[in-house]
Amino acid sequence: MKEKLQSIKTALEKELSEISTSEKLEELRVKYLGKKGELTGVLRSMGSLSAEERPVIGQLANVVRADIEAALAEKKQAFDAKAQEMKLEREKLDVTVPSNAQLRGGRHPISLVRRELEEIFIGMGFDVVDGPEIETDYYNFEALNTPENHPARDVQDTFYITKNILLRTQTSPVQARVMESRKPPIRIISPGRVYRSDAVDATHSPMFHQFEGLYVDKGVTMGDLKGTLDMFAKKMFGENTRTRFRPHHFPFTEPSAEVDVSCFACGGKGCRLCKGEGWIEILGCGMVHPNVLTNCNIDPDVYTGYAFGFGIERIVMCRYGIDDMRYLYENDLRFLSQFN
Ligand code: DAH
Repeated sequence: MKEKLQSIKTALEKELSEISTSEKLEELRVKYLGKKGELTGVLRSMGSLSAEERPVIGQLANVVRADIEAALAEKKQAFDAKAQEMKLEREKLDVTVPSNAQLRGGRHPISLVRRELEEIFIGMGFDVVDGPEIETDYYNFEALNTPENHPARDVQDTFYITKNILLRTQTSPVQARVMESRKPPIRIISPGRVYRSDAVDATHSPMFHQFEGLYVDKGVTMGDLKGTLDMFAKKMFGENTRTRFRPHHFPFTEPSAEVDVSCFACGGKGCRLCKGEGWIEILGCGMVHPNVLTNCNIDPDVYTGYAFGFGIERIVMCRYGIDDMRYLYENDLRFLSQFN
């Protein structure tokens, strides 16, 4: 029986050295230690032993059992360690691998310029105000001293929703809305979309953007207007930029002027951008007409104000040397991605 026990142990050790999976290991455990296992078989037959032999064999059986358990446990540990190692290997993560490039959006050139304009005027104490794009005839024309049949309406034909509701042709109606709802001093700018029933070409679009400015207080003069616009031109187009005011007419300002800036491409010598003029026309402005102040319940004998307005697209096109306005609306990434 001693030999039998020894041979069981030797057999197990041999088998153990030949297996390579934990399933096989479990099979071996059952085969050697299970209820119907080899060792159990030996222990069962111990009844046939003499009283002297029994404790000796019993003790040996226990030692063999302990040895087998230890050998199985050792193997199990080795398998577990191996499995863990393989898992780590499989799940290896290289944090230095470059990621898939993300396509990033960017701002539209009109938005870029609009923000730049806002920054300049915010820096001079102006508030940014929004106004509705669907406007009434009253705010778009009437309040701005442009009654029905006024010739100035001819160049600002637009899209009518009803006889009295239309898509605004200019950002100027925001002037009237603000003057109605605030008390002077009023110092606002208002960028936004405007609409005119113009056919699309290189310099026209039925929808475009304007930028309005308004300052109303006691004692505001044309000198304030000139100083502000001169500062604006220098910040926008460069320190050496000069401005030139030419008399003009707008129904809602008196006197009115158009403002040119010295060409920032040639410095005023004359080039392709300024068409040899040396000057580029950028905006309309003037002193707010007394009728407009009165329409908005501001006493023109106490307060004066200046206003100005210009197209943002024009500035974008000059700034970036774009010769066709349609590029700005076609959403062609080959064009737009140049501004990122
Ligand atoms: N609203 C005018 C236009 O669309 C531009 C303009 C001219 C605005 C003079 C003003 C201004 O505020 O004072 O042609």
